Amino acid sequence: STQQLWGGRFKKPLDKKTVKFNASILFDQKLAMQDILGSQVHAEMLGVQGIITLEESQILIKGLENIKQKIIDQKVEFTEEAEDIHMNIELLLLKEVGDVAKKLHTARSRNDQVALDLRLYLREEILNIKNQIQSLLVTLKNLSQQNKNTMLPGYTHLQRAQPISLEKYFGAYSSMFERDLSRLEDCFKRMNFSPLGAGAIAGTTLPIDRIFVAQKLNFSGIIQNTLDAVSDRDFVIEFISTSSILITHLSRFCEDIIVWATEEFGFIKLDDAFATGSSLMPNKKNPDIPELIRGKTGRVFGHLFGILTIMKALPIGYNKDLQEDKEGLFDTVDTIKNCLEIFIPFIESLQFQKEIMKKSTVDSYIWSTHLLEELVKSGVAFRQAHELIGNLVIYCLESNKYFKNLTKEECDKISAFIYPSLIQLKII
Ligand code: ARG
Repeated sequence: STQQLWGGRFKKPLDKKTVKFNASILFDQKLAMQDILGSQVHAEMLGVQGIITLEESQILIKGLENIKQKIIDQKVEFTEEAEDIHMNIELLLLKEVGDVAKKLHTARSRNDQVALDLRLYLREEILNIKNQIQSLLVTLKNLSQQNKNTMLPGYTHLQRAQPISLEKYFGAYSSMFERDLSRLEDCFKRMNFSPLGAGAIAGTTLPIDRIFVAQKLNFSGIIQNTLDAVSDRDFVIEFISTSSILITHLSRFCEDIIVWATEEFGFIKLDDAFATGSSLMPNKKNPDIPELIRGKTGRVFGHLFGILTIMKALPIGYNKDLQEDKEGLFDTVDTIKNCLEIFIPFIESLQFQKEIMKKSTVDSYIWSTHLLEELVKSGVAFRQAHELIGNLVIYCLESNKYFKNLTKEECDKISAFIYPSLIQLKII
């Protein structure tokens, strides 16, 4: 027997490099609070079911509570020798309460334990991210309301297309973030089932109460199939894919802002508090924040591909490959939270150059489609009206004019319907 918790079947200790390579404690210590909570409820259930005595159950719960406090006070040291957060805490408990700690892991495996911890962690983080999206939606609603009458060019192919309001622009992103919110809610609903009691793979012969545990931990139920319970990481894939869509929306928004903040566009002035300078060029003011958010999509997409690749040929049942699910998930959560946290004050700080936006809708041919439709309203066939306005645009381009500069005579040369339509649209 060796000193490992599973040492009974082993004659010699683990190779030192193997200890290091195999360990996950450096990153899964993030799950310490979830692990303790899960163990406390598990211990309570073991007591209620008479698998251990109620007194033993109380000692375990209290001991775990003490460890929790010590972790919060940064009074414990985790070790790679204890491999992961689950065995680290079990060993700390052994020091805390003595031999009764050896009963905690009854009717449980690290396989169902880690699946539980990860779900508890992600459930909480989904709620945090949902709150952040709600705040972003409030910000966008305010910006929409302030800009009902702010006109700017709408673009297709990044060429001026038709006039739109800034309200409509913000509304478009609100719709995207509302869908992200509903995808997160879906993800939460599907993942909110307890794997605990699945044991290593096949459940247990001991008389546990899985539903008791699920209810105490606010799950909507248990994962019925024990093989599925330890094998499933759909919820990680689903969360990271939802996050990928969310950060895609943020990234597009950022791209707009970056383009609009160029001297060429001039639609946005960046606030000094949210922009950066150049170490060499004294003239520069750079949009680092939206660029970084745009750049961080790379890591989130990477984590999505990472988890899909881990899962795609994994034999059913627990495999150690699953330990690789964590760092990508944690980084996705942190990245999304950091991006949303900075993005909200950032867009609130932007100075929209309403006069420049408006001028771009006047000094351009952006009202062509409106003009065309005025002709249609006067009875001209669509395709013919299209041709006529096309000719008008060529005439303007060649004579260096916008619609507002045209005389009645010039218009009438192309069609008698044009001039009244320009008046109708208040262009002239
Ligand atoms: N550290 C492991 C993980 O993150 C916990 C489960 C280990 N289970 C096992 N049978 N080796 O997945």
